[in-house]
Parts: sequence; C-alpha cells; structure tokens
Amino acid sequence: MTKPVRKIVIPVAGLGTRVLPATKSIAKELLPVVDRPLIDYVVAEAKAAGLEDIIFVTGRGKGAIEDYFDHSFELEATLRDKGKTELLDSLLDAKPAAGSVSYTRQQAPLGLGHAIWCARNLVGNEPFAIALPDEISGRGPGFITELVNAYNEVGGNLVAVEEVPLEETSKYGVISPRETKGNLIEMTGMVEKPAPEVAPSRYRIIGRYLLQPEIFDLLASQEKGAGGEIQLTDSMNVLNNEQAFHACVCQTQIHDCGSKLGWLKANVEMALDRPDFKEDFGAFLKNKLA
Ligand code: UTP
Repeated sequence: MTKPVRKIVIPVAGLGTRVLPATKSIAKELLPVVDRPLIDYVVAEAKAAGLEDIIFVTGRGKGAIEDYFDHSFELEATLRDKGKTELLDSLLDAKPAAGSVSYTRQQAPLGLGHAIWCARNLVGNEPFAIALPDEISGRGPGFITELVNAYNEVGGNLVAVEEVPLEETSKYGVISPRETKGNLIEMTGMVEKPAPEVAPSRYRIIGRYLLQPEIFDLLASQEKGAGGEIQLTDSMNVLNNEQAFHACVCQTQIHDCGSKLGWLKANVEMALDRPDFKEDFGAFLKNKLA
C-alpha cells in the first residue's frame, strides 16, 4: 500500500541569472506570463492534483512571494468600494486556504538539492512532490496530476520527462531507460547535460518530481556536484539504486520560462490559448508577421 502524497515543495531561492536584469529586483518566480506570476500557475497545478499542503523554500529578497499568497487589504477594500466584485472574487478564489502554505528559508543558494533538503522538517516522513516554478503546464492534465496518477499505479519515486531532439540533450538532465511500459519508463539512472553522442536517451527531466523521504538522508551527505552546486540529480541517482524509480512521459504541454526566449514564447502561446486574448492578439501577431 503506497502512502498518499499530500505535500509539495516549491523551491524559489535561486538567483535567476538567466533572466537578468529583470531578476535583479524581481524574483524570477514572480515574472508574469500574460497576467499571472509563475508561482500562481504552479500552485494552481498542485491544487488541481489534490495537493493542498504547499511548502516554499525561499531566500533573501523573495519576500514578495509570501505577500502574493496573503490578503492585500487595501487592494481588496478598493475593489470592493468600486464594485469590482468579479475581479475581487477571482483574487480571493486564487488564495490558498489559511495555513496551507508554509515557508522555510535556504540561507544561501547552494543548489537545488540543498534547497529541497531545507524542507526536510516540513515534509517529514512521507512521499512528496517537487515543482520548479520556471516550468509551467500548458494544455493538458498538468504535470503534477500526471505524476500523482502514475504514483498511484507504481509507487516509489518518479520524475516527469519529455522527449527532446537529440541535439538538445546537453541542456538538460536525461534519463537512462531500462524498461518501458506504456508511459512509464523504469530507469537505471540520470545523467546531467550529456552530449548527444553519449546521451542514454532523448528523455529530458522536467521540473516535476515525486520522491520518497529517504532522499533527505542522501541529500544531507551530498557533496557539491556539477557547477559547484549540491545537485538533486546526484542523490536521486543513489536512491534509484535502492528504490523503485520511474520516469513518466507526460502529455501536458510544457512552457520553460527559465530563459528569456522560453518566457517570451510562453507568453505568446498562453495568450493565444486565452479566450479573452485569442482573437485580438492573434490578429495582431498575424499582422506583425505578414
Ligand atoms: P534554476 O536551476 O533555474 O536556477 O532553479 P536559478 O538560480 O533559479 O536560475 P539561473 O539558472 O541562475 O537562471 C530551478 C528552481 O530551483 C530554485 C530556483 O529558485 C528555481 O525555482 N533554486 C535553485 C533554489 O531554490 N535554490 C538554489 O540554490 C537553486
């Protein structure tokens, strides 16, 4: 019997250097896509998957993320006074339930593995999901829903993956497949940024994971890895030798907003998927490109 997944860790303590200078004074995770910040999409994705216990790993200069999920009394009062009830209701609806969001702090950005380790006491001894907010779900069921469904089938540990062209493997963490059953791939391990000639597959890891709590002990003793950072991949590789580990080939459309070009593309695609922008914005783009 697998323990249910209830919690999700969202690390937001990184420096976001690929999106400088915007990230000099704005957290990357608060960059808007159309009209919502990245973290809003990820929290909605977690809620849609039934995960209501949200743990943010924040850092210095990230206080605005905490404010985003709180009441904004002045703003709410002004909207109420002006009779803008629809807008007010949409803000209140998006707010997580009281007490469902917790924050812990990574005092220095020592790497993703270290950020996750900082959440160990809040997660405790149960399986948990991880979502990196610079990648967001587009059309489809949502990555976390897909991972939770897969977990209910096979248990153990899971990473979300998508197939990429061979020449792109050197940009990502890539899995080594052992056996494939439907959309689930049993893995022998993961490799960080392999050159195409040595890539063990074309399945790259998306920023969504579902892990067992034993990962924390492995992270605790982890040395610095690639880029001088404590890497989550290194500990997941050790866990892969000890417990079941699958990659889930996801159907959800991905928007990678961690780079400037990816963020621009996400804005265009998400705006074209919105009924309130589709027509006007589509016509504008057609005109521009004619
Ligand atoms: P990235 O790998 O995109 O790193 O982190 P980054 O520092 O944010 O951005 P670049 O590469 O310099 O442009 C993926 C997620 O993990 C968090 C980030 O905030 C982001 O949400 N993270 C990363 C941490 O919380 N702590 C870290 O030490 C590193």
